[in-house]
Amino acid sequence: MLVLGIESSAHTFGVGIVDRGKVLSNEKMMFNITDKGLIPGKVAQTHIKNAPMTVKRALESAKIKITDIEGVGYTRGPGLGPCLQVGELTAKMIAKRLGVKIAQVNHGAAHVEIARDAAKMRDPLALYVSGGNSQILKAVEKPFKHYEIIGETFDIGVGNMIDNFARGAKLNPAWGSTVAKMAQNGKYVRLPYTVKGMDFAFTGLLTSAIKMLGKESKEDVCYSIQETAFSMLCEATERALLLTRSKELCVCGGVAQSARLREMLAMVAKENGARFGFAANEFNADNGGMIAFLAERMLKSGMDSKIEQCGVEQRYRIDRARIA
Ligand code: FE2
Repeated sequence: MLVLGIESSAHTFGVGIVDRGKVLSNEKMMFNITDKGLIPGKVAQTHIKNAPMTVKRALESAKIKITDIEGVGYTRGPGLGPCLQVGELTAKMIAKRLGVKIAQVNHGAAHVEIARDAAKMRDPLALYVSGGNSQILKAVEKPFKHYEIIGETFDIGVGNMIDNFARGAKLNPAWGSTVAKMAQNGKYVRLPYTVKGMDFAFTGLLTSAIKMLGKESKEDVCYSIQETAFSMLCEATERALLLTRSKELCVCGGVAQSARLREMLAMVAKENGARFGFAANEFNADNGGMIAFLAERMLKSGMDSKIEQCGVEQRYRIDRARIA
């Protein structure tokens, strides 16, 4: 089934096309983040401008016409309201014009599902780490198939924490990848470490790391904030692996692009006799391909929505999203 998926939860407007579980194209246009961060209204305006071109590019690289599309999916949430609405309206317009079915997709569930498929796993424990989210997840069947949250951040997502630190440290560009580069020449200085069972918190770590910037070298603080945050995630994940007796572990979401986090998780998996895997980076960053991927399965299982029932939900929790 040829399905077009649209992602617009934050600064990326992405359009992907999938057929029988295979991603045929995955195009995106991005809002350029400045030092002021993301202003939802401004990002949404850019998405409106970029939407037609991104759809066109996705169709061209999949080598199909818009009239070939048999179903549409879009990100219902979580995300920034005005940005989500641009994806919702674009998807509704296409579905209505073509007279095809539409599916409302949970962004996090799409990240996990595309990673699970790429890693060829059946029922993994998943660590979902992005800007706004940090959760440990496991699929359960009842009362409907969904991802249960067995551990999560008490405050902010690990990605936003590292980006905030990068802005505080005046790194250019102020992203996690710059922190990772600086960390290569750093050594460890002590920072707060907060894990409670399978949950964790990052704001204490962020505040202390920013305070430490004048006293220790930038390289040392970059190394230490990254090692501390990733160790916290690994400790909670290891506990969840033991509890669920899972023999598969996957990582997904924007922060899953970090080579250091992958290296640490691979060690955790190995020590616990579990296989470790992840998707290609284009699917860990926000993208329309993963939305089309989950939408196709939803549509095939009769999980389409009426156009007038479609909407967006800024805090659409993954544990409320039916995945099959
Ligand atoms: Fe994402």
